[in-house]
Amino acid sequence: MLLEGKRLVITGVLTDDSIAWHTARVAQEQGAEVVLTGFGRGLRLTERAANRLPTVPDVLELDINDLAHMDALVANLAARWDGVDGALHAIAYAPDDALGGNFLHTPAESAATAFLTSAFSYKTLAAGLRGLMRRAGGGALVTLDFDNRQAWPGYDWMGVSKSALESVTRYLARDLGPDHIRVNAVSAGPLVTVAAKSIPGFRRFQEVWRARAPLGWDIRNPVPVALMVAVLLSDWAPATSGEVVHVDGGFHAVAASETG
Ligand SMILES: NC(=O)c1ccc[n+]([C@@H]2O[C@H](COP(=O)([O-])OP(=O)(O)OC[C@H]3O[C@@H](n4cnc5c(N)ncnc54)[C@H](O)[C@@H]3O)[C@@H](O)[C@H]2O)c1
Repeated sequence: MLLEGKRLVITGVLTDDSIAWHTARVAQEQGAEVVLTGFGRGLRLTERAANRLPTVPDVLELDINDLAHMDALVANLAARWDGVDGALHAIAYAPDDALGGNFLHTPAESAATAFLTSAFSYKTLAAGLRGLMRRAGGGALVTLDFDNRQAWPGYDWMGVSKSALESVTRYLARDLGPDHIRVNAVSAGPLVTVAAKSIPGFRRFQEVWRARAPLGWDIRNPVPVALMVAVLLSDWAPATSGEVVHVDGGFHAVAASETG
């Protein structure tokens, strides 16, 4: 199995629609041992979603902006495992006034919150897990990206944060490569999740994807994204780091189609 014996930390499971939930399912099916993290008032929902996985994993609390949570997570992981082989960063948040076409009027604090939780947090997770991943002899980190090489309607400061996240991926790849830790991003097409529903005008993304993606795109099927995350967490991408892999039905490769 692809992930036999891997000890993985999966953040970002909120419901069984979450991309992270599907990743956890695929990872368990491929032989991995998984710990989930949950956040704030969503923790209960994470626990409920955890019960629907093939093997019910432990759920540990993690507000990625709370360093005490990160320390407690690392202590818990150190007590249960000798090391950690990989992690999925599936965390994003932007305040309402940083989204929805308010770009020119977004206060600096709201843009900073989006950056801190959605981009800087990849560094927080990587730095926190580094010691345990070194103990494992290295491993892999993966984050979830949305392609922001062009401006989108409504995506605003979350889009800017995703551009930053890609850059964070490259700098982490630079600094963690000597520890044999690979650091990559999967750029996903639009999928119906709680986070996506909070983006005003998200429906528009779905329409253009449907019209343009050469392979087609199902907004209700996160499995192709989960499969690619699993590959990047496995030993089958041993020399790939600092990369942004698109799992978007080929959308990013074409500027227009006959219909959209
Ligand atoms: N759904 C899409 O269309 C899509 C496309 C590309 C990328 N992504 C990215 O995938 C990732 C997962 O999102 P999703 O779509 O599965 O939605 P989701 O709502 O299921 O997951 C978002 C997660 O972020 C977590 N989170 C928010 N603030 C946090 C904090 N301070 N500390 C810890 N966790 C926190 C939430 O608890 C939640 O589990 C996000 O980074 C999102 O931007 C989503």
